[in-house]
Amino acid sequence: MVVTVDGPAGSGKSTIARRVATRLGFTYLDTGAMYRAVTLAALEKGVPLGDGPELGRLASRLQLRLDDAGPAPSGESQSRVFLGPRDVSLEVRSPEVTAAVSEVSAHAAVRSAMTELQRRLAGRGQTVMEGRDTGTVVWPEAEVKVFLTASPEERARRRLLQLKARGLTAEQEQVKREMLRRDAWDSGREVAPLRKAEDAVEIDTSHLTIEQVVERVVVLVKEAKAKGGAV
Ligand code: DC
Repeated sequence: MVVTVDGPAGSGKSTIARRVATRLGFTYLDTGAMYRAVTLAALEKGVPLGDGPELGRLASRLQLRLDDAGPAPSGESQSRVFLGPRDVSLEVRSPEVTAAVSEVSAHAAVRSAMTELQRRLAGRGQTVMEGRDTGTVVWPEAEVKVFLTASPEERARRRLLQLKARGLTAEQEQVKREMLRRDAWDSGREVAPLRKAEDAVEIDTSHLTIEQVVERVVVLVKEAKAKGGAV
């Protein structure tokens, strides 16, 4: 069984997907972390962010590994990310990577390399995957699809808290502007734009607690299992 959780930045995907995976004993797959790793490698190697073919080559050669054994230094819900032997969990969440990731992930060549890897990883067993296109492109046959939303103000507030927890300072208006810019890139790109799959269940998390959202998703999974006769 595969559960997909898509939505814009700050809608609660990582926190919810990780907790649902823990509750169900499923593997958690953070596809955003993968695009962030490609972006970090591109910035370090000086590959121009507009060079799709070169970024695609970089993405398909990347020695990328995600590890969910324990909480990452960047926050409880995020995966540890490795490039070769290097733990880059903190670097992939830096403001520089965050500012560049939407442009890098808009290239078709980058997306096809990452989508292939995501399908391979999710194909190993029961998985909760989160991102922008997991229910529409990566795993459209998922048994349960969720699309999370929240107001821009609430999403900016959450991002600010995350940054503060990491000792970074920022201003809420600036975080909101940056987030809306990323939303526009992610929703406006030609390949696999952020959008709700027709058969996804939309949950507005603005006024819900994490536990309430997790509970709703777990109920959806239980209902899907009952329907499929695989309780
Ligand atoms: O969820 P996140 O903030 O870590 O995602 C970082 C960026 O990666 C996001 O702005 C767009 C891109 N992304 C994507 O294009 N497709 C995905 N499935 C996941 C993330």
